Amino acid sequence: MSFTRADSLKCRADFPALARTLNGVPLAYLDGPAGTQVPRRVIDTISGAYAHYNANTHGQFPTSNDVDRVMESTREVIAAFLGVASGASISLGANMTTLNYALSHAIERTLKPGDEVLVTQLDHEANRAPWMRLKAAGVNVPEIRLNPNGRLDEADMRAKVGPKTRLVAMGYSSNALGTVNDVELARELTRAVGAWLLVDAVHYAPHFPMDISTLDPDFLLCSGYKFYGPHVGVLYTRPGLLETLPTDRLPAQEPIAPYRIETGTLNHPAMEGVAAAVEYLASWGVGRSLRERIVDAMTGISAYEHALAAHYYAEVAKIPGVKVWGTDFSSRRRAPTVSITLEGVTPFAMATELGLEGVCVWDGDFYALRPIELLGLAAQGGVLRTGVSMYSQESDIERLLSGLSRIAGRRLGTAA
Ligand SMILES: Cc1ncc(COP(=O)(O)O)c(C=O)c1O
Repeated sequence: MSFTRADSLKCRADFPALARTLNGVPLAYLDGPAGTQVPRRVIDTISGAYAHYNANTHGQFPTSNDVDRVMESTREVIAAFLGVASGASISLGANMTTLNYALSHAIERTLKPGDEVLVTQLDHEANRAPWMRLKAAGVNVPEIRLNPNGRLDEADMRAKVGPKTRLVAMGYSSNALGTVNDVELARELTRAVGAWLLVDAVHYAPHFPMDISTLDPDFLLCSGYKFYGPHVGVLYTRPGLLETLPTDRLPAQEPIAPYRIETGTLNHPAMEGVAAAVEYLASWGVGRSLRERIVDAMTGISAYEHALAAHYYAEVAKIPGVKVWGTDFSSRRRAPTVSITLEGVTPFAMATELGLEGVCVWDGDFYALRPIELLGLAAQGGVLRTGVSMYSQESDIERLLSGLSRIAGRRLGTAA
């Protein structure tokens, strides 16, 4: 396993944004779940595309030929990141939400009243709202229950996947609580009833090696800006499936995968930037093939991030008045994202005070509306969320902990 604690410190030099300071102190970027910083390699790739081959696809001249070549190789690199054989199963778009809506429009046309699409109570709205919408067409959209411990209720999932189920739309990992869901069980259950499985891997992809060929979902989505790339959505569709779906598309548009769901002109330089982000990640791994290097690097990054987040999880819980939400770190199947609340202080007030010190953490619901509502946290403004990325340091966590201890201490002082 290649990526170590020393590498985490070393990699910081590759991210220009990490040099930004506030009052002479570097910013502590603990906001990765909402988007990571990008390495120089990604920035250079995108600006290089504009400098050398800014053209549309399928022209008969050199710059357009370059874009065609780059787009195909971009799909291959993303396929290697996800662990699938061919770039032909990789469609690209503006972001995950837009691609998921496009997919829901296509899938809606294959459904009839009384069919069921299952969503979860833990998912981000981007993987709920596009499916909830189908209720208007007479489709039932039951929710897999969330337990107060931050895990989906397995018995409820088993009970709800049935003969009427056409699709289960489930997150791989929660962007609010860091839970990793049992998508393998969802695959087993959906396969048994002939339903499709759609996995939202937006929060999972930056933190774990992905192996789609083993999981074998019908659809999987992720988003480049969460794993050190630009804002681009990625949709994997099981080979042969996209061609059967009545997608929204112009008559002139290619009817085959992966193009069938890609409307309009794409952001080619940004898409090449996603491939550059994957290649950057791979540069921290060893192996003969790109895939081997990606898996090696992501295995190391995953272990590093897990240890740092576990440290934060344990330490923050010791601060008087703090409640930590979500499962503990005893399992490796836990994303390095930790949400807390502090009695008597809103997440907004905490995030504002920490932000003034250059500690970047998010407050709110992060569009994970349903879990925040069910945990009873909506009225107080959600939670304070900390995300660990490959470049996060123990010193970032120490700054956060000392800021939180001060805020908590002041609260107790005031109360006394
Ligand atoms: C788990 C999860 N799913 C989906 C999304 C939506 O992704 P995008 O911004 O690419 O539409 C996000 C964004 O925060 C997310 O965290």
